[in-house]
Amino acid sequence: MTDPTLSLVAVNAGLGDPSSTRLLIDRLADAAVDEFGADRVTVEVVDLRDLAVDIARSMISGFVLGDAREAIALVHEADGLVVATPVFNASYSGLFKSFFDLVEVDRIQGKPVLVAATGGSPRHSMVLDHAIRPLFSYLRAVVVPTGVYAAAEDWAGTSGDTAQLSDRIRRAAAELAAAMRAARPDLRTDRGAAVGDRTTAATGADATRTALEAEGIANFAKLLGDNA
Ligand SMILES: Cc1cc2nc3c(=O)[nH]c(=O)nc-3n(C[C@H](O)[C@H](O)[C@H](O)COP(=O)(O)O)c2cc1C
Repeated sequence: MTDPTLSLVAVNAGLGDPSSTRLLIDRLADAAVDEFGADRVTVEVVDLRDLAVDIARSMISGFVLGDAREAIALVHEADGLVVATPVFNASYSGLFKSFFDLVEVDRIQGKPVLVAATGGSPRHSMVLDHAIRPLFSYLRAVVVPTGVYAAAEDWAGTSGDTAQLSDRIRRAAAELAAAMRAARPDLRTDRGAAVGDRTTAATGADATRTALEAEGIANFAKLLGDNA
């Protein structure tokens, strides 16, 4: 019997074409796939710009309509989420917030989420912690410790730090993979061993920290479940 797969859904609120937020989403999804192995995880990307009208209609009607319905169902069913928004006026975009206003709170509770954002300025990286993380905490999701922010200069690799961005992407993906495994104990064979042949590339102190973080996340998820 083949091992079951996990489902990862990535929500991109970028509006540009091309979109730097979509680029970040793709880097994060690739890093997550690296953690599991390609045959152990499915990835679906939801581009909110394509759903903008349906999201607005859903807000007005009180029912999730059109293509937004399928996107919300994907989020509800996912084993884990990667969510990324451009920074608009020092916060998440209105489209990003409206989409997550359509989510049923009890369908996202306990779900591992990796939060990410892009912005023109590196000075707005705190949007991860003052806006996006509290939103998902309110929804009772399990937000992994590392959030990923990419400013325009991080992509260019000029004054920004592309290597540091890549490190954060890898670290965040490893944390998400650990949390997704912890949330699906049926897929674990023993503590630390889980779906897929690949384990995280972390070694030494990194491995210890990753294990501690995974344990903390698992305990937190259990607490949320016990109190539901
Ligand atoms: C209306 C608007 C407001 C913005 N506000 C900010 C901001 O407060 N801080 C910032 O760093 N970038 C800001 N930006 C820049 C975008 O966050 C940045 O270009 C983003 O990476 C675009 O993502 P996309 O290419 O995926 O659409 C703003 C852009 C727009 C259009």
